[in-house]
Amino acid sequence: MPDRWPGNRVCELLGIRHPIIQAGMIYNSGAQLAAAAANAGCLGLIGAGSLRPELLREQIRAARALTDRPFGVNLPLLYDHAGDCLDVALEEGVRIFFTSAGSPRRIAGRLKKEGCVVVHVVAHPELARKCEDAGCDAVVCEGFEAGGHNGREELTTMVLVPLCVAAVSVPVIAAGGIATGRQMAAALALGAEGVQVGSRFAVTKESCGHPAWKQAVVAAGPADTQLCLKPLVPVRLLKNRFRDEAIRLEQECVSRDRLTAWLGQGRARRGMLEGDLDEGELEIGQVAGLIDDVPSAADVVARLIAGHDEAVARLGRTVAPEG
Ligand SMILES: Cc1cc2nc3c(=O)[nH]c(=O)nc-3n(C[C@H](O)[C@H](O)[C@H](O)COP(=O)(O)O)c2cc1C
Repeated sequence: MPDRWPGNRVCELLGIRHPIIQAGMIYNSGAQLAAAAANAGCLGLIGAGSLRPELLREQIRAARALTDRPFGVNLPLLYDHAGDCLDVALEEGVRIFFTSAGSPRRIAGRLKKEGCVVVHVVAHPELARKCEDAGCDAVVCEGFEAGGHNGREELTTMVLVPLCVAAVSVPVIAAGGIATGRQMAAALALGAEGVQVGSRFAVTKESCGHPAWKQAVVAAGPADTQLCLKPLVPVRLLKNRFRDEAIRLEQECVSRDRLTAWLGQGRARRGMLEGDLDEGELEIGQVAGLIDDVPSAADVVARLIAGHDEAVARLGRTVAPEG
């Protein structure tokens, strides 16, 4: 198979055909999605954030039965069960970890000793530098447009990616606001060597999200998401009754304790896995406005590549100087 991305360090690091990462996403990226993305030439990630350790073990085994290509695990470090999930993933032979929501310092050392590839998600160039110092092999630079938990600084992908490219020498993977090939081409033009795509893969046939949740994203318009719950952990959410109430409480400046008590447990599961579109937490990025169908993961990848190639060819025709 000819090398489509000669010299691309993200492809080389992860052993993948295309420099595309299917993002780890609670209640959406299980074995089926990770394996489908891997089979389409990308890196698939199982999202461990919503999985108890033994369920993660099952999902790793299920993915391995569906693909012989590389896949990895996304491990948000803020959850209590992160350490146990890490042990299980290592026992099951996973050697690619995308960590997030915490400091990579302690964990990167351990994972490097185990011979793993470690990539950490950041929302600020200073943290990208710390990741490099800690031994991470690459960084995902995730802008404010992204779905899910988000940086407090509100740096957009357009600004964050070139700042991180200037700050570190390890490869930068752009995330946040990338759902089409044009956006992928733009991210690579900013100096990223790969893209991590979340929301677009959440709304695919292989995502384990509830069908009603996927349809809600299809129906959403470009301005239907908003960053909420900043006093706790900022998260970009789709408009619904739950989100409106979160915004109202924030505007009333209620205490963190009251906000935590109101939030309770299991809102994300209720929204994205069980399909409660009123009272559940619906995490999606600004690209919701660009998502209008539920294709297969392989179709998403084919569109990304075709759209990227078209964009680059068009730029070659319209932007390159004469002569
Ligand atoms: C439904 C959903 C759940 C997410 N869950 C996680 C998670 O568990 N861990 C994590 O590191 N990032 C999570 N994210 C962020 C993604 O990994 C990714 O970086 C982000 O979606 C990229 O932006 P995009 O949505 O604009 O493509 C989530 C995003 C979405 C949409």
